[in-house]
Amino acid sequence: MANNPKAAPVTFDMGYIDRVRALLNSRPGGDIKSPLAHVRTYGCQQNVSDSERIKGMLAQMGFGFTEEPEQADLILFNTCAVREHAEDRVFGNVGALKSIKRRRPGTLIALCGCMVQQEHVAEKIKNSYPFVDLIFGPHVIHRFPELLYNALAGSKRVIEIPDSDGTIVEDLPVRRDGNFKAWLSIMYGCNNFCTYCIVPYVRGRERSRDPERILEEARELVKSGYKEITLLGQNVNSYGKGEEHGVDFPELLKRINDIPGDFLIRFMTSHPKDATPRLFDTIAQCEKVARHFHLPFQAGSNRILKLMNRGYTREQYLELIDYARSVIPGISFTSDVIVGFPGETREDFEQTLDLIRRVGFTSLFTFIYSPRKGTPAARMEDPVPHEVKTQWFREMTTLQEEIAAAHSASMVGTVRRALIEDAGDGFLEARLSENIVVRVEGDRSLIGNFAMVEITGARSWILTGKILNTL
Ligand code: SAH
Ligand code: SF4
Ligand code: F3S
Repeated sequence: MANNPKAAPVTFDMGYIDRVRALLNSRPGGDIKSPLAHVRTYGCQQNVSDSERIKGMLAQMGFGFTEEPEQADLILFNTCAVREHAEDRVFGNVGALKSIKRRRPGTLIALCGCMVQQEHVAEKIKNSYPFVDLIFGPHVIHRFPELLYNALAGSKRVIEIPDSDGTIVEDLPVRRDGNFKAWLSIMYGCNNFCTYCIVPYVRGRERSRDPERILEEARELVKSGYKEITLLGQNVNSYGKGEEHGVDFPELLKRINDIPGDFLIRFMTSHPKDATPRLFDTIAQCEKVARHFHLPFQAGSNRILKLMNRGYTREQYLELIDYARSVIPGISFTSDVIVGFPGETREDFEQTLDLIRRVGFTSLFTFIYSPRKGTPAARMEDPVPHEVKTQWFREMTTLQEEIAAAHSASMVGTVRRALIEDAGDGFLEARLSENIVVRVEGDRSLIGNFAMVEITGARSWILTGKILNTL
């Protein structure tokens, strides 16, 4: 449409990929004719997915990959800003690169991702980490070849951290980490501004990809043999909002479910204010959608939920869970929860424990509140001492372990369909549709296949089982 501000997605320009390759090939001595890159990713699946695109571009530019930063010609950290701890780890690890740079001055050091999108962090890197050659934000990933070219060709450091312009770039090359599990971004950014959260500031406003492009990518993945596709977005339930195509999240799920083939559909993350009974009705009818729902509740007290700007009450949350269980028997729930939000009292915290007991999550991602500069919560009074928050945190994880252990014990003796994965320590893992992992033994050739698994034992919340037959 002529006046549509969200005009057609931008197509990726391959020009600089060729220019970087030519530049590397023309180097005297040829010592970086087969250059190696070390790419390290912090943070959420969105970042993992972005790194797969960065690696795709690097591969096309002629780079190979190494796990060893000492051997790399390019070291790139894709960073996360969600909690202070995440940032501290990055600063620590970047500091350690100084000695590599001293020993091998030709090594190019690059930082990208959510952390550098914050002005005060970018300033700190500029001033205190002069050996970082290239800094770019999450909104210009598609310009990485151009930025890398400038960093390689020039003598100055390259810093590119513009705000989001709301465009979506399609057709970026991709080098996927897995060969049977894939990430598929359906949208970017977030509009929710939960008062504790930095994501909307660093990832920009919510924007959804065109459904046809998503379906095309999903079909391609199924054709290439992928067995699990995880749809990604900060709030997938609001997919398609404000777009003319009229495809919302339930409709998108239905269309992906209709793609022929044996594969599983997962998605993350959902927001309780946008998860509707219609969504659960749709999942009930879609046999390829996993029987698992990650639904962050963040806090069990209505007072704290309001201060967090979450847009729902504990009663509404519990109602949603009840409805989902009534239409999808056996569906499992996991969640994110924050302890020690500014002003949280013991009474508020007990509401969180109560909600955890009522729902019976199969697992929980638990965090102690971390103030993020520039967010409203960082300006709120926060009188509860850290030791108290740590104590609450322990209480909560102990409760969750008891719940998970009881749930695990109740599963012993059942037979389930699962996707066989590599546990990385000589064992295999069978991941159930409910996103519960069972430790199994078996031949590595089973990795990436569906199998029927009998659950034979449970020690605390860890399940063990036996592969009966592959499917
Ligand atoms: N969009 C997703 C995930 C956001 S980040 C969602 O809305 O659920 C992942 C999790 O990190 C959040 O769910 C929240 O539990 C946690 N988190 C975000 N900001 C935080 C902060 N400032 N301190 C502690 N935990 C935080
Ligand atoms: Fe952060 Fe809230 Fe957006 Fe999730 S929904 S990314 S917690 S602002
Ligand atoms: Fe971190 Fe950015 Fe994800 S802040 S959690 S990597 S969106």
